[in-house]
Amino acid sequence: MPTQTKSANTINYAQELLKTQTKTLLKKHNINAPIETPPENIDADLAMPTFALAKTLKKPPHIIAQDLQNSINPPKNTLIKQIKAQGPYLNFYKDNEKYTGIVLKNITSAKQNYGKKPEKKQKVMIEYSQANTHKAFHVGHIRGTSLGESLARTMKHEGYHVTQANYQGDTGAHVAKWLWCYLKFHKNETPPKKQSEKWIASIYVESVKKTTKENQKEIDKINSDLENNTDPNLTALWKKTREWSLKSLQDIYKDLDAHFDHYFFERQMETRAKEIVKDLLKSGIAKIDQDATIIDLRKYNLGIWVLLRKDGTCLYSAKDIALAEKKFKKYNIDKSIYIIGAAQSLHAQQLFKTLELMNFKNAKNCHHLSFAEVRLPTGKMSSRTGENILYTDMLEELLAYAKQEVTKRHPGWTQEEKDTSAKNITICALKFSMLNQSPNKLITFSPKEALNFEGDTGPYIQYTHARAHSILRQATFSPGSFNPALLKEKEELDLIKKLSQFPEAVTKTCEQYDPNQLTSYLLELSHDFNTFYHKHPVLKAQKELSTARLTLVQSTMQVLNNGLYLLAITAPKQM
Ligand code: ARG
Repeated sequence: MPTQTKSANTINYAQELLKTQTKTLLKKHNINAPIETPPENIDADLAMPTFALAKTLKKPPHIIAQDLQNSINPPKNTLIKQIKAQGPYLNFYKDNEKYTGIVLKNITSAKQNYGKKPEKKQKVMIEYSQANTHKAFHVGHIRGTSLGESLARTMKHEGYHVTQANYQGDTGAHVAKWLWCYLKFHKNETPPKKQSEKWIASIYVESVKKTTKENQKEIDKINSDLENNTDPNLTALWKKTREWSLKSLQDIYKDLDAHFDHYFFERQMETRAKEIVKDLLKSGIAKIDQDATIIDLRKYNLGIWVLLRKDGTCLYSAKDIALAEKKFKKYNIDKSIYIIGAAQSLHAQQLFKTLELMNFKNAKNCHHLSFAEVRLPTGKMSSRTGENILYTDMLEELLAYAKQEVTKRHPGWTQEEKDTSAKNITICALKFSMLNQSPNKLITFSPKEALNFEGDTGPYIQYTHARAHSILRQATFSPGSFNPALLKEKEELDLIKKLSQFPEAVTKTCEQYDPNQLTSYLLELSHDFNTFYHKHPVLKAQKELSTARLTLVQSTMQVLNNGLYLLAITAPKQM
């Protein structure tokens, strides 16, 4: 993990610098209009539309642009080289040589901190993954876990204080069902050494199939005995099986490189949840209806929210109120982000509305970052073990395919090298596919496409990173001074411009809570790098030019590395 350095607070990234200098220049001429980054097909670097000035200046916009071009000269000692009117826009052009020098200096000196912003005061908690015990870890969890881990890393890079939290359902109806099924059909069995999560998931699926009206009473009893701690043997069994689950989940989190600063559990919320429900009854926000405790939210178009069952046991809803309270109280956070599937949107709205009704002062600081479903090209995912495809099954399928690919490319590698590489590529393919789409959009996951080294995939970016490494390995090159004036080919300038946009891509990702901003950026960067590399010799160029180009290669490698880190994807040196 990159550490916060002092320089991150003082670095002026090139693109930012150009903007600030342009704004300052305009201000000097008493012009206070917004400046924009023009679309790719416009060759200018910044543009100021003059429409807004037309009213006060009582002139048509294109005349204003023309007048400004005539009256403003690009000042020396700035990055602005030329100012030109184009229709109703005033366009600004950078000094490529100076700009190149600053961009590459920014990157080579900040290294893993390139793109990092000064520390912000805001403390944010991101709750994600939330896999339940006694149940499967399926493809939806991969999406939520990937989103949370990358957003957390990116927000840290943007300067936020971030706490990464997990909230796992280790109690409730599904646990009762599982324990019932285990006691009835699997008593004394222990999980297999390998793929224990699959065994755990299969017992849950079996329990769902075998639940009938008659045995539901037995399951309810298990649920209430467990909650009230009335049967020591049952509690002991719950503890033991819960540990099995948590251990198997840890293996998955290790695979996915997901790290949590804090784990919350549903079980820990029950006592406080019941106290809160009592208060809600007292204040008239909740009421008893047919022996259950509910909140009537129909007035707000949010239906009826049930807090406690008839037998007094606690529901998911009530526990979530206790959780919200705990997060703000104990962790002193300013914002709480819940990364939860879209299927629970209504639940999130009911929760936030209830917090508001309770006058919970941080109700408005809770945010549901909702994400859509993941499907296979053939339709909704289904597997032998349940309605959603399991992580383990998915991993196996992808891994087999990646192993073939690696063996084809590197017949000389040892088995261990091949296995490590295949696993890296597989996890990368999986996570990148989950992130390379905005959270609110459905993902149709195609294993073959995800692993394509030449497509818009994670492995393509990893491969580009490895290629940069391989070029640098072959060079006798020590980073140092280079002549930025030598980098003047279109492909070089495009690549430099792209490199300068990394800090902005980080900002956008955080503003929109959308790592897709970063994945798109890294694909474009990889593309620009490969275009440059195919067109221009690096190692074989004349000495001085070669040094400049190698600095460009090294900077690209660094930015790819930083970007992959923020996505929580490894950046192998060889592929
Ligand atoms: N464990 C829950 C589930 O699998 C998700 C928890 C989401 N977080 C929350 N605070 N409700 O459905």
